[in-house]
Amino acid sequence: MSDSTASSFVVVANRLPVDRITTPGSDGDTWRRSPGGLVTALHPVLQAEAGTWIGWAGGEGPAPSPFTLDGMRLSPVPLDADELRNYYEGFSNATLWPLYHDAVEQPAFHRHWWKSYEQVNARFAERAAAEAAPNALVWVQDYQLQLVPAMLRRLRPDLRIGFFLHIPFPPTELFMQLPRRLDILRGLLGADVVGFQSPGAAQNFLRLTRQLLGLKPRAHIVEAEDGRPVRAESYPISIDTASVEQIAASDVVANRAKELRAELGDPKTIILGVDRLDYTKGIEQRLKAFRELLSNGELSVPDTVMVQVATPSRERIEHYRALRRTVEREVGRINGDFGRVGIPAVHYLHQSYSREELAALYLIADVMTVTPLRDGMNLVAKEYVASRLNNDGALVLSEFAGAAADLKQAFQVNPHDLDALKSVLVAAVRSPLDEQRRRMRAMRRYLRGHDVKHWARGFLTALGAPETATAYDSDN
Ligand code: ADP
Ligand code: F6P
Repeated sequence: MSDSTASSFVVVANRLPVDRITTPGSDGDTWRRSPGGLVTALHPVLQAEAGTWIGWAGGEGPAPSPFTLDGMRLSPVPLDADELRNYYEGFSNATLWPLYHDAVEQPAFHRHWWKSYEQVNARFAERAAAEAAPNALVWVQDYQLQLVPAMLRRLRPDLRIGFFLHIPFPPTELFMQLPRRLDILRGLLGADVVGFQSPGAAQNFLRLTRQLLGLKPRAHIVEAEDGRPVRAESYPISIDTASVEQIAASDVVANRAKELRAELGDPKTIILGVDRLDYTKGIEQRLKAFRELLSNGELSVPDTVMVQVATPSRERIEHYRALRRTVEREVGRINGDFGRVGIPAVHYLHQSYSREELAALYLIADVMTVTPLRDGMNLVAKEYVASRLNNDGALVLSEFAGAAADLKQAFQVNPHDLDALKSVLVAAVRSPLDEQRRRMRAMRRYLRGHDVKHWARGFLTALGAPETATAYDSDN
């Protein structure tokens, strides 16, 4: 990499923030910026600093050459078919993902998965070392890349390195089960700042550095084995509140919402769920609660209908396949028992949607159900709240989502307790308008002050890069 392309700000994440667009008949693909919150947050800094984002572009085999999009340099990293199986589907999503989510499904482990994880992490670290200018700031994202901070520091000790974990970090008893646990801890300790979604997660990490490495954490700082101070703290991520509000306020979305409500038979109450089809999201528990409420008559069709969007995800992994079978069986059972001709009790949609279509769904949802068994944050909960421009609607929110610490006025519930889930769902359906407004107003106010740029600014300031954080001053 020549110095002319070296960047003073580099983001390293498993995925690039772009979607590939293939037009039949035209030679070569084009790229479109994907609508994710992370890229929205980092875009101002990437633009101001002529920054680079390193990540996988999707697909297997050779990666495209680096290219520029919307003022960001994008540097694609290749993954071959074996690496997809072993690094991505294996160690990242069948070992770490379940283990870090309270082992709600049994984590699997194979030694060749670990080898692949190491190999791919080394590739990302080497690419970051090549792309970063002297003394640059490199921000590594998420559980797929936990070895990158230490690998990169060995290659480039001049860099300032941050790491942010988007998912939960487990308590000692669970982390201790992880094969190669010391390598993971040492990998993270290569960063100057390790960020988590919650104070509890940061505490779990600091405690483990004492228990497994004999380090002496004090408050938020621990001195790593090479004598460097490492800060471990919580920086809860959020959404681009203004842009979610703007989309929800558009005529296109308002018209689509009217259309959708009519298509659903104009019921009194629409209950909505929007989740990746993932076993951490508590979709089965939610459906079971709905079925029992229909069965005992506390709710009834066609007054009340449920819409469940289950976004396709990680479809080759067995736990995900099994979940799909279970969820689809349960939807079929509910519709068989309680649906009417032309009026299913549950509208089940296994599809991806545009931001506008999702916003229209948020607008028609009288009750939004976000009931994960464990979730690092859950942005859907925040998007729903920000979309409720009239301050009505009720959010049923799991205590086990990181978002519960921010959205305190939600109808909070323990989703493992089916009776509690049922009674909170009924309370939300029957909640008076003035109570809904009181709760929603407070949550919307919170999200205006705590958006995704607030998150990025907080992390970058902790990383000792206030000059980078000023990119937001002109942006806002
Ligand atoms: P996770 O990161 O585990 O998938 P989050 O709730 O934090 O869960 O984030 C999910 C993101 O994906 C949200 O921004 C949401 O709007 C988006 N999303 C969820 N389902 C769909 C879908 N069917 N189509 C398009 N975007 C979706
Ligand atoms: O929030 C965790 C996360 O793995 C993100 O890193 C990712 O964008 C999202 O879930 C979807 O997962 P995947 O990249 O495996 O499709």
